[in-house]
Amino acid sequence: MKIRKAVIPAAGFGTRFLPFTKTTPKEMISIVDKPAIQYIIEEAVAAGIEEVLIVLSRGKEAIINHFDETPELDKILEDSGKEDLLKLSREAAHLAKIQYVRQGLAKGLGHAIYCAKSFVGEEPFVVLLPDDIVDSEVPAIAQLIETYKQYGGTVLGVQQVPREDLSKYGIIKGTPLDGTTLEIESMVEKPSASEAPSDYAVLGRYVLTPEIFEMIEKTPPGKGGEIQLTDSINRQIDQEKVYAKIFQGTRYDTGNKLGYLEATVNFGLKHAEVGKAFKEMLLKKDLE
Ligand code: UTP
Repeated sequence: MKIRKAVIPAAGFGTRFLPFTKTTPKEMISIVDKPAIQYIIEEAVAAGIEEVLIVLSRGKEAIINHFDETPELDKILEDSGKEDLLKLSREAAHLAKIQYVRQGLAKGLGHAIYCAKSFVGEEPFVVLLPDDIVDSEVPAIAQLIETYKQYGGTVLGVQQVPREDLSKYGIIKGTPLDGTTLEIESMVEKPSASEAPSDYAVLGRYVLTPEIFEMIEKTPPGKGGEIQLTDSINRQIDQEKVYAKIFQGTRYDTGNKLGYLEATVNFGLKHAEVGKAFKEMLLKKDLE
């Protein structure tokens, strides 16, 4: 079945980015000139996604406004003949069919995904975490969709991470099927380095099947008192095959300060308008 729908959970508090996130959604942080969440939706659209559901919480209204029409601004830009800016401003409103749902209480990623149950219906769908921006030739989520087409079922996007970072992620234990695919035996959420079953971390990209909702319903609160998606996927592994795709591309965690700065430097250097000047500026910096 063709995958047409994407869910983007964006209801978290973003405490790693305080004080910025006191009143501004972290998903709206600008990487050069575009909010982080627009990079994510562009990736989904490039992979053939037509409908997007963003899971929000109170105070995240700026996200809804960003993907809405802006007739007053459009008229000013039109009247002053600023066609390039008009195109940029309009782009976000026409990327995909975007809908929203509120997660009233932040009860965890599993619970946030559960808020998408009626949007998803009976189709397989993708989940993209908005903190994880991937710079790649083939969109990261398209690489997972290819694996779904080949093997069917749930597919988690993974990459190897350094030992000291294992405790930040869901870590899988799996058996290789081909050069970039593993069949997952189990998954552990945020293990210590000594407990981790491998160095393959799940990095913000998933192909899920509608069966996940039944698994979430059966999942009690886990680590941190939250309903963990990892626990629900572990239940699914007991019943059917679940795969990991080692996706190609450089992934930036824009939910933490250093990852955000790294993403800004990467996309700044590649930017058509300011890239060259930015590079010269960086080269002139005395970094000692
Ligand atoms: P994180 O725990 O990484 O994000 O959740 P956070 O809570 O926003 O940030 P910090 O840790 O406080 O800085 C991973 C993803 O799951 C979403 C978050 O918005 C993020 O995209 N999430 C998490 C929800 O939508 N609802 C939740 O209840 C928890």
